[in-house]
Amino acid sequence: MIESVAAESPSKSVTSEVLAQEKFVADDWDPSRFDVQHWLERAPWRTLRDTRYGIRPDIGVTHHAVHDDKLVNQIYKLDIATFLTAERVSYTGIAKLMQHAPDEASQVFLATQTVDETRHYEVFCERLAQFGVSPQQRDQLMEDMTTKELRSFYDLIREQVDKGDFAAAMMAHNIILEGMAYPIYRYESAYWSVFDPSLSQLIRGAFSDEVHHVRFGEAIISRYTKLGDASRNRMQRLASEFHKLMTDVFESSIQHYIHLYQLVTDQYMEEVGDIEIFQGKKIRDVSEKDQAYILMEQIQQEHQNRMQRIGL
Ligand SMILES: [Fe+2]
Ligand SMILES: [Fe+2]
Repeated sequence: MIESVAAESPSKSVTSEVLAQEKFVADDWDPSRFDVQHWLERAPWRTLRDTRYGIRPDIGVTHHAVHDDKLVNQIYKLDIATFLTAERVSYTGIAKLMQHAPDEASQVFLATQTVDETRHYEVFCERLAQFGVSPQQRDQLMEDMTTKELRSFYDLIREQVDKGDFAAAMMAHNIILEGMAYPIYRYESAYWSVFDPSLSQLIRGAFSDEVHHVRFGEAIISRYTKLGDASRNRMQRLASEFHKLMTDVFESSIQHYIHLYQLVTDQYMEEVGDIEIFQGKKIRDVSEKDQAYILMEQIQQEHQNRMQRIGL
């Protein structure tokens, strides 16, 4: 019995490998890295296992200040509302983009990305609801947090999707919006780790999905940059246009946010001072000005590295 299973296995695995390589039409990239099976293994069976709305039941307790301190409570809600504005743009945009994808393997990937983005939207909504925020109040918070810079950026993303320009929309969603936001995810999940480990976990859970989405973006945009001059130039022009808008968004808001965070940090320094807000740097040792500077530097660095990787 054991012998027959052993004898059967090699040929079985060869067969499934051959099938996996041929199941979808995908040009010049490996679809098995981005198919539904991969998604199941990455998210539902691994990062989301044993969670409910993205939170493990044994995660630490929420600091009383998040409920009782007016300023902490307000910043907490505004932060989640800001995440929500991006998630809404993402899930509505990516779902629409499916019909404009160049091949079936990309469509399959976008279906999984749509579920990821929708889940992010849901878990952040759920967290706000747990703090007594109604859907109407949540919409208002989201509206309040959408600055004119952020609105221009979101509008330009939507425009590419509405035009059905797949390459441009992918660049905007999966390279610029998600890629440049890496340092923000890292900062936010560290910042809230003492006040609310649950929120940190939600942010980390969303972040791990975004990393995967960016990988797909890189794989697919690299195809366009390799195609030839016209296509490459177009990608380059779009990348710099989106990059400028996204930089405006960060520059106009980072100082304001960090100032608010610092007001809270100063008040609770004994409890939060040891948070490693940047690698090797405790929050008690980095001034408000330096935090804003480091964050901006990291955002630009992420972008530069990514542009190099995709050949722009
Ligand atoms: Fe997302
Ligand atoms: Fe994403």
